[in-house]
Formats: sequence, structure tokens, C-alpha cells
Amino acid sequence: MAKKVILDVDTGSDDAVAIIEALRCPDLEVVAICTVWGNLDVPYTTENTLRLVSSLGRKDIPVYMGCGTAMVKYLDGSRTPPVKENQPIIKDGKELHIHYQELEGLAPTDKKAEKMDAVSFYVNYLRASKEKVTLIPVGPLTNLGEAFSIAPDIADKVEEIVIMGGGDEIANVSCCAEANIWHDPEAAEIVARCGAPVLWIPLDATHSAALTIEDAKKLRELGTFAGDFAALMVEQRVEFESASIGGDKNNSAIHDALAVAAVIDRSVLTDVLTCNVHIGLKGFSEGETIIDRRCIPDKANCQFARRASKEKFLSMLCDYLGRE
Ligand code: RIB
Ligand code: CA
Repeated sequence: MAKKVILDVDTGSDDAVAIIEALRCPDLEVVAICTVWGNLDVPYTTENTLRLVSSLGRKDIPVYMGCGTAMVKYLDGSRTPPVKENQPIIKDGKELHIHYQELEGLAPTDKKAEKMDAVSFYVNYLRASKEKVTLIPVGPLTNLGEAFSIAPDIADKVEEIVIMGGGDEIANVSCCAEANIWHDPEAAEIVARCGAPVLWIPLDATHSAALTIEDAKKLRELGTFAGDFAALMVEQRVEFESASIGGDKNNSAIHDALAVAAVIDRSVLTDVLTCNVHIGLKGFSEGETIIDRRCIPDKANCQFARRASKEKFLSMLCDYLGRE
């Protein structure tokens, strides 16, 4: 029996690979895809998602548009100003992005988002569901923060929440925070406390399974649209990240796709900590995933992956993206 999952995405380049992987894996039943702000404004993350599912021949997948900004963070002018998201890097006169507003290689589509918003969808669908569903949020957690606030009871219908976000020894958007969690720390804390089982897929794990340009060649050798598109996403990310460090970088962490891989086959994760994690909400630690490291820590509330197998991850991608 395929596992029912709901993806929550801010489609972007690595979100797109995650969506393809989930839709091509026979062990998953993608019930719906919810979109959220983050890498791009939510109209763009939504349109990229609509175009991608259409290009994959999956117009049957309902897409629900979600929140356009954080729950409370930007109501208070004293909070860290929004990071100028997705700033381009100019290289040889060309603007490079890690998340293009219109993902290259996706044709326009007549598919539209559902009339219902993502937050209402979560509440209605989960309350009515006869079986538990696995949630895979790979962008800011705003949609789920709102849903669990208005309907905390829906946590009983959640099998597990597998979050791409956070970091222990690695950060990206500040000295101690990862982008998805930093964008909406309050939403992340609401999700951390919701009572459903939580597995974090943080930067420590995703960076340990980064894909190289050579790996992108293997994806191209699959001879499928999915393989070619995923290879393009890897190549564009490596090009951007190399330009941003002003040197040569040969790999890029395809963060969101590892979260989906972990739902499909947990053995892709090679080091997982059972621990207590809460979120820094203000000041220097805003958006940090804080692991309780006391000798007698608070009761564990999650699992936190620290390493993954790049070989297993790539093999899974080649298996699923090689299928038409
Ligand atoms: O920090 C990495 C995360 O931020 C990924 O989900 C990427 O898509 C961006 O949303
Ligand atoms: Ca994402």
C-alpha cells in the first residue's frame, strides 16, 4: 500500500527535484501539493509547481496555494529584516539565480491552483482522513503553523512530519540558522510542539549527500524528462554556488529531495539523533534549531538526521527519475 504524503513546497530548484522524486516513486501516493512563500513569492512558487506537475503528466495532482509571508515575524519592525532572497550573482554578464522565478525547461500550463487555500485544505483533508498522512514540508513552515494553530486536533491524523530545515553544525541564512526555519521561526516552533512525530532533515544531512556535476551526468544518462530536468537543476545550483564563492565548487546539496528520499527509505539516513529541539525565536538565535545538550535534557520531541548516504540518495534518484 503506497504511503499517503502531502508536500509543502516553495518551488525553487531543489523543491522541484523533490516533487519529481515523490511523483515518480510508486511507494508514495502524493495526495496534494501545498505551496508557500520562501525561495520566491508564493504566486511564483505556485506557478512553478503547476508547470512542473503538468510537465510530468500529473495534472491530476491538486495544488493548493498557501501563505505569502511569515505568521508574525514581519509584523514587528524590530525583527531581522527580510533577507534579500534569491539575490542574483552576475557572471560573465549573465544573472545567475539558485531559484529562477520561472524554472527553465517547464512549459506554461493551463492548470490552476485549487480554489481552497492550503491552510484550509490541511484542516479539512486531515479531519476527514480515515488514515494517517505523512507531511513533507520543504519551505517555510507557515502553512502548517497556521493549520496547527487553528486546528491542533489534526496532529492526530499525521503519521510523521519530515521537515527539510534547520542545522546543527551547518547554517546558511545567518550564523546559526537555516533559511526555511529562519523565514518563519514561530511557525517552526508551533510545528515542533504539535505532538506529531517529527523528523528533521537539516543542512548537516543534506550537505553530506550533495550531488556533483558528474552525478548530474548520470541523471542525464537516464534519458528521461525527469532526469534531464533534475540534472539541469543540479548544474544551475552548482554554477550559482561556484559564482557566489568566486571559485570552483563541484557539488550542491539538493536539500528537499533528501527529505522525500528519507520518507521513501529511512536507511538513506546514516546518523540520526533522538533529541529535544526547539526554535530560537528572537535576537541572535532567531531561526536556530536548538538541540538540548544538557546532561539531563528535556524529553525528546524529534529525530534529527545528521548524515546521509550520498550513494544511496543518488541511486534512489536514478531509480525513480529513470521511470517515465
Ligand atoms: O536552506 C535550504 C532550504 O531553503 C531548501 O528548502 C531550499 O529550497 C530553500 O527553501
Ligand atoms: Ca524548499
